[in-house]
Amino acid sequence: MTDYYIAPSILSGDFGKFTEEAVRLEKAGADWLHIDIMDNHFVPNLTFGAGVVAAMRPHSKLFFDCHLMVENPEDYVEAFAAAGADSMSIHVEATHHIHGALQKIKAAGMKASVVINPGTPVNAIEPVLGLVDMVLVMTVNPGFGGQSFLPECLEKVADLAMLRKLRGLEFDIEVDGGITDETITAAKAAGANAFVAGSFTFNGEPAEQIKKLRKKL
Ligand code: DX5
Ligand code: ZN
Repeated sequence: MTDYYIAPSILSGDFGKFTEEAVRLEKAGADWLHIDIMDNHFVPNLTFGAGVVAAMRPHSKLFFDCHLMVENPEDYVEAFAAAGADSMSIHVEATHHIHGALQKIKAAGMKASVVINPGTPVNAIEPVLGLVDMVLVMTVNPGFGGQSFLPECLEKVADLAMLRKLRGLEFDIEVDGGITDETITAAKAAGANAFVAGSFTFNGEPAEQIKKLRKKL
């Protein structure tokens, strides 16, 4: 049986109240907390670093799903492990050493996940599929919440699900960007089982919004 995970993104929450937002999302029924880290180099936006993750950690039991939109993500592995991150998702476009970086994440005791942007083909990550716990397929260009879902990215979700079966692998497939109670249906049908939702979660009462998403799974 497939496990499905709803991962609200704290990016759309109140930046003055990260810990309260984490607590609120846990009570609202989130499975994971999606934490977007941006460095203003890999993407044209700047958020926060491992210090904020460490500050939230004592107040939440949620799985911390950390999405690093930063250049050279391998440089941040020790800091995120120490902060209590459960997983690190790193972009194949952001490092010359994706294989080594994923190995480093696993060696630090976290789940390792590789991310592809809308313009990046699945074959860019084929050599590391045997190494990862998850593949994150971006369904918007990263950098900002509240953008429209790009349906053409779902072909890659379907290709990944097929490759996983062919090769007898077990990684999760997450989608991130523009997920709503409408777009989630096509993402699930393509083979995704983890769903990030930022603006949708906060466009109403998070508990109600999460319920609307879960109903579609
Ligand atoms: C975008 C981030 C997303 C973002 C999603 O660069 O990686 O996680 O929070 O926001 P929505 O759900 O509003 O597209
Ligand atoms: Zn994200």
